Amino acid sequence: MTVPITLAQGDITAQHADALVNAANSSLLGGGGVDGAIHRRGGPEILAECRRLRASRYGKGLPTGQAVATTAGRLDAAHVIHTVGPVWSATEDRSALLASCHREALRVAAELGARTLAFPAISTGVYRWPIDDAARIAVRTVREAADPALFDEVRFVLFDQAAYDAYAEALAAAADG
Ligand code: APR
Repeated sequence: MTVPITLAQGDITAQHADALVNAANSSLLGGGGVDGAIHRRGGPEILAECRRLRASRYGKGLPTGQAVATTAGRLDAAHVIHTVGPVWSATEDRSALLASCHREALRVAAELGARTLAFPAISTGVYRWPIDDAARIAVRTVREAADPALFDEVRFVLFDQAAYDAYAEALAAAADG
């Protein structure tokens, strides 16, 4: 029995879930893409909490593959879970770091009692990870790591049709075993 995994196409900042995952960078101080949208729509409280994290636990920034939660501000969620994806490399296999982003976000969500969690396609934008490979890693990791007793739904929110199709393909392949 694996956790129910669903797909949605659209803007993750318009989603309702207990927690939304942000594709952040190590600074935790914002950026473009998902990061920019979450801070823009979520409002200043999120950045204020990120700054407090930088002034305390994460003085050197959030390491790649790790995750940390903040308020979701004005977003339709209780929490934002910020994680830092690996930048794609053609010479170094960083798959374990991308898997870690998903595993750590699930761990933080479970600690918070968040039972529905929405992920973007981490690392597949500015960080240039090929969408098909990222989808395979994301779906496999969530199927392995998400405890169905702790989660009612894990949703991947894809911004465009190509990403949606890639995740649908990965989901179908994983279900076939
Ligand atoms: N909702 C859902 N998905 C989105 C949104 C959105 N509002 N905006 C972009 N995306 C998609 C992109 O199309 C891509 O498929 O999210 C995926 C991840 O893209 P990025 O946001 O660029 O994230 P990433 O590749 O992990 O790069 C992170 O980019 O924005 C900066 O501060 C961020 O430095 C960090 C880097």
